[in-house]
Amino acid sequence: MAEILSQGIADASTPGEEHALAVLEDAFARFDRIAISFSGAEDVVLIDLAARLVKRVPVFCLDTGRLHAETYRFLETVREHYPVTLEVLSPDADDLSRLVREKGLFSFLRDGHGECCAIRKIEPLRRRLAGLDAWITGQRADQNVTRADLPVEQDDLAFSTADHAIVKFNPLSTWTGTDVWDYIRRRDVPYNPLHDQGFRSIGCEPCTRPVGPHQHEREGRWWWENPADKECGLHAQNVAPIRIVNG
Ligand code: ADX
Ligand code: SF4
Repeated sequence: MAEILSQGIADASTPGEEHALAVLEDAFARFDRIAISFSGAEDVVLIDLAARLVKRVPVFCLDTGRLHAETYRFLETVREHYPVTLEVLSPDADDLSRLVREKGLFSFLRDGHGECCAIRKIEPLRRRLAGLDAWITGQRADQNVTRADLPVEQDDLAFSTADHAIVKFNPLSTWTGTDVWDYIRRRDVPYNPLHDQGFRSIGCEPCTRPVGPHQHEREGRWWWENPADKECGLHAQNVAPIRIVNG
């Protein structure tokens, strides 16, 4: 079991912060093989919260090979700023070269993002989760119609197998975007500089664009697709709550 640091929840300055700290404390107390899945603003908030609870924060990032240059630099900023063990995971080289050879570098514009995300994100995530019993995401319920009912803790129906159950924690599920940015400002948390250029939800470079002040944050992601399809498979159970049993 991870040793939980004593100041932890006592330091919380809002009820939302106290709740997220309690969820994280419970998660780290129950699971040794656990990590934060990190890409965006919410995830640095999770890292900042977790660093108040445990001495070394286990973190992984799915490097799709298509992230913005700013995002790669930001990963290094986070690595230097926090006591993290940051694993950067790559797609399978054979699967990736077959996709690019057969369909080119922008197949998602024609065929939808499912196939490319499956190779660049889902397979590396499945590989990583095979060595974990729980993972922690920065999803929020108000991010998309697909996340409206997001609980703080759920059985991971998409990645659990018949002989390996995986639990998924979403400690910020009830936070709003304003809560996230209030926390970032209050605690001087580092963030991706793209946020200052109109990017709100940041994924891969070719599938992400800035949004205007009256647009929803998800409108900058896969904008050529229907909002109900805007899950890449990391969080597939938000749209298809079916247990996938495989090896
Ligand atoms: S996505 O499925 O549409 O791409 P989104 O960008 O909203 O997801 O992020 C939701 C959560 O998924 C993040 O808070 C993070 O926990 C996880 N996540 C998304 N992209 C990555 C990535 N490239 N590497 C690791 N975790 C990620
Ligand atoms: Fe490919 Fe776009 Fe998915 Fe990134 S977000 S893995 S570039 S389809």
